[in-house]
Amino acid sequence: MNGVTLENEAGLPIAVALSERVHWVGAFDPNLRTFDIILKTANGTSYNAYVVRGSAGVAVIDTVKEGFADDFFARLESIADYSEITVIVLNHLEPDHTGALPELMRRAPQAQLFISQKAQSMLKGLLKQDQLSFTPVLTGDSVSLGDRTLQFLHTPYLHWPDTQCAYLPEEQMLFSGDVFGCHFCDKRLFNDRVGDFRFSFEYYYAHIMRPFKEYVLRALELIEPLPLKLIAPTHGPILRDHPDRYIQRYRQLSSPVLHSELSLNQKTLLIFYISSYGNTRRMAEAIYQGAMQVEDVRVSLYDLEGGEVAPFVDLIEEADGLILGTPTINGDAVKPIWDLLSSLAVVSLKSKLGGVFGSYGWTGEGVRLVEDRLRGLKLRVPIPGLRVKLIPTDDEIIECRAFGLELAQELMGVRESKVINFADLA
Ligand code: FEO
Repeated sequence: MNGVTLENEAGLPIAVALSERVHWVGAFDPNLRTFDIILKTANGTSYNAYVVRGSAGVAVIDTVKEGFADDFFARLESIADYSEITVIVLNHLEPDHTGALPELMRRAPQAQLFISQKAQSMLKGLLKQDQLSFTPVLTGDSVSLGDRTLQFLHTPYLHWPDTQCAYLPEEQMLFSGDVFGCHFCDKRLFNDRVGDFRFSFEYYYAHIMRPFKEYVLRALELIEPLPLKLIAPTHGPILRDHPDRYIQRYRQLSSPVLHSELSLNQKTLLIFYISSYGNTRRMAEAIYQGAMQVEDVRVSLYDLEGGEVAPFVDLIEEADGLILGTPTINGDAVKPIWDLLSSLAVVSLKSKLGGVFGSYGWTGEGVRLVEDRLRGLKLRVPIPGLRVKLIPTDDEIIECRAFGLELAQELMGVRESKVINFADLA
């Protein structure tokens, strides 16, 4: 029906050929609905592992989740003897790819284990073995299987510090680890055979790779020049039809959009607020007016009472600065502010400018709590949060303008240390 035979006549799992010398030896997990707590899957996933046979050795690239080891070993045995395995490559140490590793090492003790430089301490932590033998590798390192070679690409933070890719030049295949993967379980296996998996591909990128866009772009510098007939990721379809399209999509998704519309000098500053009785709103508007006095800062003001926070994530990802305004209710900032902050887990906020303000009635903890959260998310918060008790006075409104002005100046690197003359802002 689909040309992919997954079992022999006795019903045992068998390897699937990607070429004469390269086979898939992975496993399917169609019942999985939640991965790593946060990631949803609509139809399960696959744990892809591969075998490469050279004239002077056999390599196993990645393994599978522990509970799926039987399928992995059955497929491996259908294509190679354990005594033939000379090389084990782990492109990524997360348990869904290392679950079968200890048993594989026990069955093929002669095999040399190759991991990335950054994986060394993690491997020891994962396997809890003191006497581990392995070879750490970086871009430029390779291992020969005789007439086949595996060349290593150092691609950290896609999506763990340890991640790497392995390239097989004689077949123009890339074993990419989680990169270009997705949680999509389809036993037709190849991207030109399976159902429509675009949603899963995009969703996987958005939740797994998006926080590491700068590392994606660095990895693409290594991957794009490679002649490629096929990408073999550790999850989802094997990409043999137009693999270049998936690379191009990663570049699109990882490239900033907004900055191409701004001049070189311009910076963007977003102000979000929510207000119970209009007091925090009045503060927000004054801060907005103050910030707009600084040339080349594009300031935007948003009321979170509108409801949805998801549309703002894209804006915040590309903004240079973020100011949040919250009242304090029952000793805390309010839910829409926390909703917005928790939705930012998928983007990198490191070194963006942050600021917090808000009106309060009794104790005013909300501003401090949000400030702490911004610092925890690695934003710079150079000016202490601005709090106003209940209704802002005219002087406090002037103070709000100064707060906005100073943050905008800080954003442009022109903030003066001198005391601001509030009268100038009235
Ligand atoms: Fe598929 Fe990051 O493990």
